[in-house]
Amino acid sequence: MLTSCTTDHPTSSDAPVANAHVAGELHAGLLAREAWISPKFLYDSLGSKLFEAICELPEYYPTRTEASIFERHGAEIARAAGANATLVDLGAGNCAKAASLFPLLQPAQYVAVDISTEFLCEALGRLRQRFPQIRMEGLGMDFSQRFELPPQVRQERRLFFYPGSSIGNFNPEEARAFLDRLRAQCGPDGGLLIGIDLAKDKAVLDAAYDDALGVTAAFNLNILRHVNTLLDADFDIRQWRHHGFYRPERGRVEMHLEARTAQEVRWRGGSRRFAAGERIHTENSYKYQQADAIALLERSGFEATRVWTDPQRWFAVIHAQAA
Ligand code: AVJ
Repeated sequence: MLTSCTTDHPTSSDAPVANAHVAGELHAGLLAREAWISPKFLYDSLGSKLFEAICELPEYYPTRTEASIFERHGAEIARAAGANATLVDLGAGNCAKAASLFPLLQPAQYVAVDISTEFLCEALGRLRQRFPQIRMEGLGMDFSQRFELPPQVRQERRLFFYPGSSIGNFNPEEARAFLDRLRAQCGPDGGLLIGIDLAKDKAVLDAAYDDALGVTAAFNLNILRHVNTLLDADFDIRQWRHHGFYRPERGRVEMHLEARTAQEVRWRGGSRRFAAGERIHTENSYKYQQADAIALLERSGFEATRVWTDPQRWFAVIHAQAA
């Protein structure tokens, strides 16, 4: 499903119930031997706001570290990426990262894409007032699997912008398939500007995904509230506990929700008994070695990669051209 943000059609709230495809995906995950819920369901309107709050936390270094790279190397990054691009922002959220690049990057068109439609359209409305000279499109859609850009997106000079290490939500094979799709949609004059979180000390990562204030816990638990809405489920959120921790041997941070007590959960078309201590896996966040990140891009037909990083080498911003 694709919803456009237009001024004449004020958007309603996030779709209250799931379509058959979404319901089927949730149902299958909840009934799997090791229950899981895709991290894309973290982002209803409240989830997007909680993620904004996470980005303000002292423990959550990625957003701030990436911003510092753009601040320090913005002019060079913009020169590499080139002006007059069709800037396609995948997982745009509040659109703040792209907006901070507008003065340097001077895109011909800005296309903001996010699964959290209502949150996106509100942000884009504000952005249109700040930058009336830039053509903008807002697309509320799930781009994690197959996706097609509608005809109002310019063909020329497509620059996919995928910041924040959202690529980390895919396992390496899924990331490869996703990058192949971007490569296919960007044409010979296109490119990719991506932010990738790098492997680092376990204590830093554990704190980033299990912060003292419990904002990440609320963000994770909110997925159950969202599933209650989408599937008409009856998760009792007080009966679940957040876990977020780095597994260096798997190269990723994992988030889980753990049942505090034995319980049964029902939803439209299904139910499941959870034992006390049983977990639902809600997110993987892969952390890359810089060389592996570049190799991944090159395998999908991107070339001439340029990398900018912070002094601690915690995060990498990479520009790559369609080969
Ligand atoms: C938006 C997927 C990049 O993996 O760090 C933040 C989401 N999860 N805290 C990440 C997230 C827990 C974030 N991404």
